[in-house]
Amino acid sequence: MRVLVITGAGVSAESGIPTFRGKNGYWRNLDPAKLATPEAFANNPKLVWEWYRERRQRIRNAQPNPAHHAIVKLAAHADEFLLVTQNVDDLHLRAGLAGEKMVQIHGGIFTTRCSRCDFQFHETGRAEHEDGDLATCPECDEWMRPGVVWFGEQLDLRKIERVENYLARASCDLVIVAGTTAVFGYIIDWALRARGQDGQLIEVNPDPTPLSAFATRLIREPAGIALPRLVDELLATSHLF
Ligand code: OAD
Repeated sequence: MRVLVITGAGVSAESGIPTFRGKNGYWRNLDPAKLATPEAFANNPKLVWEWYRERRQRIRNAQPNPAHHAIVKLAAHADEFLLVTQNVDDLHLRAGLAGEKMVQIHGGIFTTRCSRCDFQFHETGRAEHEDGDLATCPECDEWMRPGVVWFGEQLDLRKIERVENYLARASCDLVIVAGTTAVFGYIIDWALRARGQDGQLIEVNPDPTPLSAFATRLIREPAGIALPRLVDELLATSHLF
């Protein structure tokens, strides 16, 4: 069985991480879709860092949920497996998925990088300084920023290449898209190309998305309930596992 799984913020919702667009997504009455932009950082880097520091702390305190664990189980039984996640948290990794089986297409929240040069570091284990001053790059003195992809920014080409290479090798028997509004064209494109002519495309999301019309099966339930059941069902019934 050759599998592609694509996840979004909904998969971490049951771990207590607010999604971007849901009613719980707002932070201090601010729309995350407006905070996660280069313009917001240019206008008010301190505010944007405060939001990211708070999210980092929330993620450190969170635990992977049954949806993350079900994906690890599926990966363990698949002949070939890739997870493409839009989530910048580390919950897929902490659930036990090997780094080489996943691509964090929007980067990782625990990376801090220079706004100008290549200097970057990771700070998973460190507590945040609530009143933290803005840090500048030790190499070029520009502001340091979160190492995530913001709206309007290019994806990392090496990450695109990893996804494209996986898709190019063969089509997938199974594509699962869980917990994403699928607003980005590349997410829909990858899901559709991966399933090819006769793969299954299963969407797990309580609400409809632009991808729903193309799914071979829709599961309108929270991922933490639906994915463990779906994975067990697939492992028990599919002759390809
Ligand atoms: P969104 O916040 O846009 O969407 C969350 C999706 O999860 C919605 O479709 C919900 O219906 C669904 N959902 C909510 N709770 C769920 C649950 N318990 N189980 C399953 N699904 C659930 O998040 P994304 O689609 O991930 O990008 O957003 C994509 C990107 O937009 C993010 O990576 C980020 C954001 O801005 C950048 O920062 C570039």
